[in-house]
Amino acid sequence: MITYDYTGIEKLIERIKSNTGYDFSQYKEKPFKRRVRVILRKYKLISVKDLIQHLDKNKDEYQSLIKTITINVTEFFRNIEVFNQFNALLKTNLKEGYKYKVLSAGCATGEEPYSIAFLFEKLKEKYYIKYKIDAIDIDRDALNKAIKGEYPLEELYSIPEDLREYVKINETSITIKNSIKTNLEFRLENLYEDNYSFGTMYDFIFCRNVFIYFSRDLQIKILNNFYSILNAGGYLILGKVETLSQNFKNKFEMIDLRNRIYRKL
Ligand SMILES: C[S@@+](CC[C@H](N)C(=O)[O-])C[C@H]1O[C@@H](n2cnc3c(N)ncnc32)[C@H](O)[C@@H]1O
Repeated sequence: MITYDYTGIEKLIERIKSNTGYDFSQYKEKPFKRRVRVILRKYKLISVKDLIQHLDKNKDEYQSLIKTITINVTEFFRNIEVFNQFNALLKTNLKEGYKYKVLSAGCATGEEPYSIAFLFEKLKEKYYIKYKIDAIDIDRDALNKAIKGEYPLEELYSIPEDLREYVKINETSITIKNSIKTNLEFRLENLYEDNYSFGTMYDFIFCRNVFIYFSRDLQIKILNNFYSILNAGGYLILGKVETLSQNFKNKFEMIDLRNRIYRKL
């Protein structure tokens, strides 16, 4: 088994920051090291010191490095139960004539916000409602894919049958219909910067499978921001293995522990 040497990891973080502007200093140590290990393996190196030397000579490789660190694995209706609960929440408090606002934070290649959009579209067939979904991510390539809205044909099978009408099925791919795309806005934003905002208050914030990377302090900072941009009674939906910090006990009530759904008090 190879033993990797992480000495100088702080220096690597500084280098990444000065070359790309991305600051990983507050990422959790263990997941960050796991990602660095993937990078070391990729370059067939065994120490962070060697990696820094390699990057000093190949500065254009920083962008692909960021991608490896912020891994954007996702799928349509990932953990479908969460989407079923979201749909149920919408239906129980349905407000005719209302425009729902949703933030998908850490949207990766777009499958999450489009899944949300499909559910709204289905409801729109029965009720007079509108919706707007803002979707943000730190990864430019992932966002470009999201904006394009084209996915391999296999992804069709993750979409429930009654919602497949919202995609166009091509020979080897599927594309999101334009009528749906107009309800979404994708933007390159960094969740831990103070000033990201669409100037909107939200009814739902999805931030799933993003917090796993962040230190407690960073999570608290981001959660405070979410709190300030959520309408009273609005919902925050985290990933399956993510929990709300104790500091937020008085600010959110737990609605569904299994699906990590919280309501702003
Ligand atoms: C594992 S994906 C989750 C995608 C989707 N939310 C889901 O659950 O299927 C995590 C995403 O978070 C993004 N991300 C990581 N750090 C971020 C940050 N500081 N600001 C915005 N997005 C970030 C990554 O680029 C990646 O696309």
